[in-house]
Amino acid sequence: AEKIILDVDTGSDDAVAIMTAILSPDIQVEAICSVAGNKDIDKTTENTLRVVQHLGADVPVYRGCSQPLVKFLREDRQPKKVHGLELVVDGKAVQMHADTLDIPEAKIHEQETPAPVFYLNYLHQAEEPITLVAVGPLTNLAVALMLDPMVVEKVKRIVVMGGGYKVTNATSTAEFNIWYDPEAAQRVLDSGAEVVFVPLDATHRACVSKSDCARFREIGTKASVFAAELIEQRILMHNAFQPLDIPDAAAVHDALAVCYVINESVLKDVRYVHCAIGFRGLGEGQTVVDPRHVTAEKNCWFAFDGDREKFVAMLNEILALGE
Ligand code: RIB
Ligand code: CA
Repeated sequence: AEKIILDVDTGSDDAVAIMTAILSPDIQVEAICSVAGNKDIDKTTENTLRVVQHLGADVPVYRGCSQPLVKFLREDRQPKKVHGLELVVDGKAVQMHADTLDIPEAKIHEQETPAPVFYLNYLHQAEEPITLVAVGPLTNLAVALMLDPMVVEKVKRIVVMGGGYKVTNATSTAEFNIWYDPEAAQRVLDSGAEVVFVPLDATHRACVSKSDCARFREIGTKASVFAAELIEQRILMHNAFQPLDIPDAAAVHDALAVCYVINESVLKDVRYVHCAIGFRGLGEGQTVVDPRHVTAEKNCWFAFDGDREKFVAMLNEILALGE
């Protein structure tokens, strides 16, 4: 099994990603680091602990950064992000990401060590390079890399759910994880590690439908039923604010990034390109991918498409594991 460290801002699709990673026999989750993003650090940490507890998994959770590296997120600067919008269905408020996940309160606790310090401790003693899977803002990784750039030698690759070429969500030009901490994303790109972007161009095509969720419910495991509940809420939000190519479907961004580690063919049209991050102004948080044949030195892999059938088949198989 491939060892990974997951970095999450749990969130609804983060929860599906955590369950997929923990249950997959092809992945060994060494640790999960929380970061502020979808919600504040207290909520993303509590939600992460709840998911680990839900599966009865023995995976340490490390609490990470509570703010982006540089930018100040004042209310007036929040993007018209889908996550923040509310929908009321049958009198019940629906969000892309609930403040707290609808599973029992965590009885387990996070580790003492802050996430960026954990990265340094783990990577310094690691025998061989490890895959990092980041499905929230990249603040923790950027801080670790700023404390000791040499740790990149123990990083096999960084799989980042983030960015968008023709598809955005936080603003007209940006995807949320990158928008939330653009400077951190640029630092990860500059780190020298191999970076693979799983952007919205891929996650919006490899989406999960309402009938897929019905199948998850039939499977009847704790993971598959909880995943169905989370994704059905996401479908309501997508239908209202971000309709996809097929009706009654949702992107489950973070789980696609995890599935890429298990089977790379779940992403399509993956190209090696030059990408730079927009910092301020209209392009704040934009992954500016250079489409020209001749560009500045190329620095990352970027998936321009995803395989919906393969993704759903993997979720059916993996979420059926466990009780
Ligand atoms: O833009 C999608 C990303 O933002 C996902 O990681 C989702 O969890 C949110 O954090
Ligand atoms: Ca996330």
